[in-house]
Amino acid sequence: MFTNVPFPAIFIAMSNKKRVFSGIQPSGDLHIGNYLGAIVNWVRGQDAHDNIFCIVDLHAITVPQDPNKLKANTMELAKVLLASGIDPKKSTLFVQSERPEHSEMAWILNCFTRMGELKKMIQYKQKSGLDVNLHVLRQFVQEKIREELVKNYKLPSQEGPFDGLKMELTIQKQLDQIVNKGLVDDILDGVIDKLEGVSTVGLFDYPVLMAGDILLYDTEEVPVGEDQKQHVEIARDIAQRLNKRVGKVVVVPQPVIKKEGARIMSLTDPTKKMSKSDQNENSYVLLRDDAETIRKKFARAVTDSDNKIKFDKEKKPGISNLLNIMSVCTEIPISDLEKKYASSNYGQFKADVAECVIEMLKPIQAKLAEYDKNEDKVRKILADGAEAVAPRAKDTLSRVKKAVGLGL
Ligand code: AMP
Ligand code: TRP
Repeated sequence: MFTNVPFPAIFIAMSNKKRVFSGIQPSGDLHIGNYLGAIVNWVRGQDAHDNIFCIVDLHAITVPQDPNKLKANTMELAKVLLASGIDPKKSTLFVQSERPEHSEMAWILNCFTRMGELKKMIQYKQKSGLDVNLHVLRQFVQEKIREELVKNYKLPSQEGPFDGLKMELTIQKQLDQIVNKGLVDDILDGVIDKLEGVSTVGLFDYPVLMAGDILLYDTEEVPVGEDQKQHVEIARDIAQRLNKRVGKVVVVPQPVIKKEGARIMSLTDPTKKMSKSDQNENSYVLLRDDAETIRKKFARAVTDSDNKIKFDKEKKPGISNLLNIMSVCTEIPISDLEKKYASSNYGQFKADVAECVIEMLKPIQAKLAEYDKNEDKVRKILADGAEAVAPRAKDTLSRVKKAVGLGL
């Protein structure tokens, strides 16, 4: 293909590949949501891009971790990534904490990030408990205060018989003022304060560490699941602000969200994301689940009762999730699958989805078994990876430090 092209042109063509960086947390057993939503995109994009993949253990400690489990999870994730097809010849794989530049970069970027921006992050609000529905909470507090006042001071309740006395009207107005304004907001501010008080600075700062990961490597594209889009957007904002203040020193990255694979839902409640923190083991399929377990889990998957295999996220979330899973496993479009299963029943369809997943996992599980016997090989790949990315990380960091005016 390149026969008539002089060597430098080939070289340029190769080095023109887009720089892709992505990270994944070592947070325990991995499920097909992690694989289909994140890992598979990394694997399939390897040839087209210049890839750096990072096991982000510094992110993992933003929530409490058992130290031994964290180490074991880091090893497990490395094995899963390699077994899934991350090829050290094509991509660089390393552990975040093994490159100190990440923490250093995060500190500098902290000084270019606003608290207000971080407070808006959905993941922070969820993980710190700040996503409580304030509207519902406000109504609840209002009702409680009203009840107490009515009871203790024998005030007329709003619903109760009202005899129209001027005096009572005034009291009623004052009551409304207490309940609807200042007091309720004071109480809610107190609740928010308490929740913020117990969450860590690390959890709050999580997106800045992530921005550092991305910017250190002059990343152009960041493939992530839908839930991480907001974090890539804040990385862009931070990069743009830094460039504006100190001159162009970093590349502004783009999020890349793969649509169909982006969200794999729970098998037992298809309105929720598949998640390993779910209490119900039947809600997720682990990458190490054996064939029998996978068949059972899919057989029990929650669906609707009209027995038509059609994609309709609103009305048929269960079947739509299964169609999506089958489609990303087989790379067959959903519309073709709908045609194929037009006259099938749910039992047959679920059994077929299970077989697709089993087939997809077979080669991965075989390779996992090999890496289980040779963990030193995994350690060597990770150490080589950390060394391979060092020059670029050091180069970006020193460029940024210089631009910001650090050191002499
Ligand atoms: P986590 O372990 O939850 O941090 O997820 C690791 C990666 O898998 C992230 O890139 C997530 O976006 C992705 N991921 C996790 N759960 C799902 C899911 N149910 N569907 C699609 N992607 C997911
Ligand atoms: N926060 C990401 C997640 O939980 C992981 C991550 C850390 C990441 N650093 C990153 C993803 C940089 C992309 C780029 O999935």
